[in-house]
Amino acid sequence: MESSRTFSRRRRPLIVGNWKMNGLIESAVDMGEALRQGFDERNTSCEVVVCPPFTALHALHQQLGESSVKLGAQNVFCEEFGPYTGEICGIMLRNVGCRYVILGHSERRTLFGENHSLIVRKTMSSFRDGLQPIVCIGESLEQREKGETLVVLQEQLLPVLKALADQRERWVQLVVAYEPVWAIGTGKVASTDQIQEVHYYLRGLLKEHFDEDASQRVRILYGGSVKPDNAAAIFALPDVDGGLIGSASLQSKEFLAIIDALPAVD
Ligand code: 13P
Repeated sequence: MESSRTFSRRRRPLIVGNWKMNGLIESAVDMGEALRQGFDERNTSCEVVVCPPFTALHALHQQLGESSVKLGAQNVFCEEFGPYTGEICGIMLRNVGCRYVILGHSERRTLFGENHSLIVRKTMSSFRDGLQPIVCIGESLEQREKGETLVVLQEQLLPVLKALADQRERWVQLVVAYEPVWAIGTGKVASTDQIQEVHYYLRGLLKEHFDEDASQRVRILYGGSVKPDNAAAIFALPDVDGGLIGSASLQSKEFLAIIDALPAVD
């Protein structure tokens, strides 16, 4: 498959742990300590982000202190402040130390009815509030079997790229995460050919809607049943810039082993 490997020079590898609705404050603090020690001992040049539930953000922020492990949230609302019962805005997330936010995860799209336009609004408000959005896209098994994968991914990503068209300074801060829905939490990881085909296609879309330079600098993560034993093969793919890790991010040993699976950086 045609692709050039510019991973090491142009794109800093990124590993993101999405804890989903798991973890109380005590376990989050323990995890924060294990990651802080484990990551800081490693002296790796990759970027690591953990996204606990909202309730553990503050405690984890305190625990991580000056560590280079960064914090992210799993969702955000797009308004600034106001009568939005049950919602959390980007400024609040910054206030508890978040630098990143996961948007458009398939669980939010399917269980909470998030649509393309809401995800675009959340992407733009995240930038406004100083958060880097990690925009998730992915096809269902049915869509893959019908041969619709690339069309579905395009439908999900294009509204975001179009909304950013005149915001050149933000292009390279966007993170895209390809998470095939059928690979999430199922133990069925996509094959390396399937992953590279999609990531190469997505980089092409970035080139078409941003420009060549931005397309080579935007990080595209893979997510869906990434484990220590399959991570190295996935991260070795030329258009994969790291991973969005679900269940394996709940155990520090597994998460650190996944970080260790990243290729060495030049
Ligand atoms: P798993 O790694 O548990 O498959 O979850 C992936 C995911 O949804 C990360 O956002």
